[in-house]
Amino acid sequence: MIHLTSPPLSPALDARSAAGLVRRWRKAVEPDELARVYDALAKAGPLVPTPWGALLVTGHEDCRQVLADRVWRTLGARWRDAHRPGWRSSPSTVGLCETPLQQDPPEHTARRRPLNSALAPRAMREAAENLVEPLVAAYVDRFAAAVRRGGSADVVAEVCRPLPTAVLAGLTGLPPEVDRAWLAAESAAMVRVEELAAPPSVVRRADAAAVALLDRYDRVLAERLRRPAGDLLSRWAAEDPHGARYLLLTLFSAGVPTTAALLAAVALALTTRPLLAERIRQDPGFAERLTDEVLRWDPPGRVVTRVAAAGTELAGRILPAGQVVHALIGAAHRDPLLFPDPHAFDPDRPPQRLLAFGTGLHYCLGSHLARTQAVAFARGFARALPGARTAAPPERHAGPSMADIARLPIHSPLSQGSPSQ
Ligand code: HEM
Repeated sequence: MIHLTSPPLSPALDARSAAGLVRRWRKAVEPDELARVYDALAKAGPLVPTPWGALLVTGHEDCRQVLADRVWRTLGARWRDAHRPGWRSSPSTVGLCETPLQQDPPEHTARRRPLNSALAPRAMREAAENLVEPLVAAYVDRFAAAVRRGGSADVVAEVCRPLPTAVLAGLTGLPPEVDRAWLAAESAAMVRVEELAAPPSVVRRADAAAVALLDRYDRVLAERLRRPAGDLLSRWAAEDPHGARYLLLTLFSAGVPTTAALLAAVALALTTRPLLAERIRQDPGFAERLTDEVLRWDPPGRVVTRVAAAGTELAGRILPAGQVVHALIGAAHRDPLLFPDPHAFDPDRPPQRLLAFGTGLHYCLGSHLARTQAVAFARGFARALPGARTAAPPERHAGPSMADIARLPIHSPLSQGSPSQ
């Protein structure tokens, strides 16, 4: 059990009101609703206690400190062995604890190294040109054709999920018989175990996904060990046959659901604010600013959880070793100290340091790849689907930790019957 040593965190906030706020936060689904809860949390104080003994951190500078300061560690295997007996019976949690996201040095350093070299800036520049651009064009054009044919189509199922899967498959050399739609669905199901207090049905589904994914990765790696193909899979299989399965698990679970969420949020912005698409057609460079504002407005990963390895100061409070905090990246991105008029969606706001890809030791290794896909997607979408609108409201997964649009039907009256180019 975690106890605070300081006086009450916020004199204005008793335990019942804090619990009520936390409940509201966990139930919020729509970004506008979340924004209201973020405001209420920030008003209650920079650190809001949860009924389970953790603290919610809402300010941008405080969240940045939690991500950057090495005193804050992951809730990895060591922490779980001490605080969550029985956790090893969940294959999805065990799998995620084998990724650098849930590791601290020295394990983190060793697992991150091969990923670092696979996703090095030069390799990513080449991938952007040779892999991402052609794949985005193919997926968007196919989607535009489906919209013309059927009147509307679901951009999440047709582009947002399969595209980042195909990009990572191309990067690693994953053979075509590994079904891309299956891989995307299982990766998304697996990471949902990370949602705060995920219900047993979600954990069971995540566990089944982890077992199926690791089994598939093992078979592909064994095949590459027998018959090397000069790709990344063959290299990883030869260098570290056991660790390679977790490198694949890391890439697809960290890279697909997040990028899919970003692409869906870009599609939603373009179809609900049509002037944005027009601006991209006039000035393709504008797609970069739009992507940044989408990442600020509703970052795909909204929460990063850490635990203090030693007593430390945060937001003017001394916190004890063992204190768990949830850094609310989504709330940090609505901090008025850094973002004036924070709830206005404004791609023209001056660039600021976003926390959407984290910062410090765990800074996202796929940030360049994800941004490149989003920018190319925004340009392709604006070109191929003039006048596109949402055909129904987006369906979102519940839970405050991850932004995830599960379905977004689009129609485009202006593109009906006309070629996309
Ligand atoms: C919009 C898309 C993405 C978002 C919003 C995102 C967000 C993040 C965040 C916030 C972290 C840090 C988490 C923490 O500090 O605990 C992270 C880490 C990571 N991301 Fe991403 N990510 C995205 C796409 C990708 C892609 C495409 C890949 C792979 C190609 C990737 C690979 C990783 C890896 C390997 C880490 C772990 C780094 C470490 O722990 O050292 N991400 N990501």
